Amino acid sequence: MNSAKIVGLGKYVPPKVLTNADLEKMVDTSDEWISTRTGIKERHIVKKGEATSDLAYEAAKQALKHSQIKAKNLDLIIVATITPDTQFPSTACYLQSYLGAKNAACFDISAACAGFPYALAMAWQFLKSGFYRNTLVIGAEVLTSITDWEDRSTCVLFGDGAGAAVLVPCRAKTGILNCYLGGDGSLGDMLILPAGGSRRPATQETIKKRLHYIKMRGNEVFKIAVRIMVDTAKKTLAGCDLTTKDIDLLVPHQANSRIINAVAKRLDLSSQQVFVNIDRYGNMSSASSAIALCEAYEEGRIKKGNIVVLDAFGGGIVWGGCAIKWA
Ligand code: UT7
Repeated sequence: MNSAKIVGLGKYVPPKVLTNADLEKMVDTSDEWISTRTGIKERHIVKKGEATSDLAYEAAKQALKHSQIKAKNLDLIIVATITPDTQFPSTACYLQSYLGAKNAACFDISAACAGFPYALAMAWQFLKSGFYRNTLVIGAEVLTSITDWEDRSTCVLFGDGAGAAVLVPCRAKTGILNCYLGGDGSLGDMLILPAGGSRRPATQETIKKRLHYIKMRGNEVFKIAVRIMVDTAKKTLAGCDLTTKDIDLLVPHQANSRIINAVAKRLDLSSQQVFVNIDRYGNMSSASSAIALCEAYEEGRIKKGNIVVLDAFGGGIVWGGCAIKWA
């Protein structure tokens, strides 16, 4: 047993839908601009008072049911999120309590939109080494809690949701074959939540300047995103002696359909080999690839023996890939 495989998947998005037509009434934008520039048609948003752990809980229940593993038998819960319920306790701790997963260690990780591959990589290492067995990995976000509804360049992009995966150990050369993670912290200010941390704690001034909302130089991020995602997919596969020709399904981070199409073209993949659901959800950061993986499985796009590649990048700047031989 020195690998890990996914034995349960789950997803949850809140029922409330915000369409491009709704956004047209809120900021100076149009369905035409949003659709052609991003591929997004609608996104799901939480109701007041609903937090990241609430979404994570719904996704986790599904994944546990699918895996037939009881919450009390979980050894570890990792939640990837940049919108935790509170700075501390971690969202994983809230989730552990809701699930009654009394025997699980729990922590959050912050790797923005690459959070789900980052968290899978950690779970893989814990399971490979034999340190833990049953592990729950979540990507969950309430991005609308840090969205500036007066900034049309960002508010049209984001949505809320959670995706979950349950992993158990398996024999080598199956399940997760390789993970590849990286980052370039010198590019951090391209995509940032400027205030609310130790550098700039909340003051009346930070609130007045709207510094508790996502700031993104979208065009600059766009330019590096394609190169990073292509490189991440190739390096992830090279690490387990595969090439892009081996890909059965690419599950990319869903930030922009133009980015996804450009990545697919450079990797020489057909549309059947790439999973896209950005039209219905927008960008949900760490939840995007987690939900995409779950939906791809539910839609029968992933079969036993397939090579599935997760490929994500996000604020940090960070990137992460995960090659899986579906078991
Ligand atoms: O999740 C991980 C990281 N995030 C990303 O990967 C996002 C990467 N970036 C992008 O997806 C794209 O850069 C955006 C979708 C954010 C923006 O698309 P773009 O084609 O790069 O547009 P732009 O920022 O260059 O703006 C083009 C024009 C500007 O007007 P002018 O200066 O040409 O007159 C903007 O003011 O579009 C304008 N614009 C809008 N117009 C209508 C910006 N936002 C909007 C809007 N509606 N919502």
